[in-house]
Amino acid sequence: MFRLDGKVAVVTGGYRGLGRSMCVTLAKAGAHVIAADVLQAEVGQETLAAVSAAGGKGELMKLDVTQAEAVDEGIRELAKRLGRLDILVNNAGIARDNLLLRVSDEDIQKTFAVNVTGAINCARSAIRLMMRARTGRVVNLASVVAELGNPGQAVYSASKAALIGLTKTLAREYASRGVTVNAVAPGFIDTDMTKNLPQDAKKYMIEQIPLARIGQPDDVAAAVLFLCSDEASYITGQVIRVNGGMYV
Ligand code: NAI
Repeated sequence: MFRLDGKVAVVTGGYRGLGRSMCVTLAKAGAHVIAADVLQAEVGQETLAAVSAAGGKGELMKLDVTQAEAVDEGIRELAKRLGRLDILVNNAGIARDNLLLRVSDEDIQKTFAVNVTGAINCARSAIRLMMRARTGRVVNLASVVAELGNPGQAVYSASKAALIGLTKTLAREYASRGVTVNAVAPGFIDTDMTKNLPQDAKKYMIEQIPLARIGQPDDVAAAVLFLCSDEASYITGQVIRVNGGMYV
């Protein structure tokens, strides 16, 4: 079940957090994984070590998803070298939380540049190759707050809601070419993005979760693996919610 043998997968933001867990999970299932990120290579080495420890194969690609030309070059080069590109996981994301009235112009631009334009840049380059092969999988990382809202996350939640619109439209545009496009919307997951929240904020969040625990990166990676697998070939344009029941 859920094997990806012989497939090539790009995971943006793959050097740490959820992205790292996705790289390990996809590689364990047999994919050759490219972790693409802006962070320094030493951080990515930890992802590669985890991929190898799981018996998988992978490599690092220094990539800023906001730079459309570099994205296109990077994706073309790797597809040429490896002979294919089957999976794109648009996981790179940033959150600059603040109440709306305190949000700076730079916060708005940067959040949309990474979360939305970055995903569009990567999808455009990857889908061009996938549609020629008449097969492909794109998974976009949305968030529970896109549908639930959350005070302090106006800009972030707007950017994640944009990814849901992107997902549904791309699903319709490329279904006839064999490319599926879905979103995974995580709830409150234990990563660097959430570890610095004050204890009382964490306690409050957990109280809102029917399954009464913070999610783990592997909970999210499992949904990504399923959507990338042959078993999910009849699923497109959907939002899979991995949130412990926080939004139902
Ligand atoms: P994280 O901050 O640990 O990892 C995000 C990764 O994206 C980092 O490696 C970062 O360097 C990379 N990145 C940032 N800007 C980039 C750029 N311009 N180009 C390439 N890579 C870039 O965050 P985490 O928690 O692992 O989140 C992963 C995704 O899941 C994000 O899209 C986030 O919004 C989403 N998410 C996370 C939740 C959580 O509770 N942790 C909940 C809902 C959604």
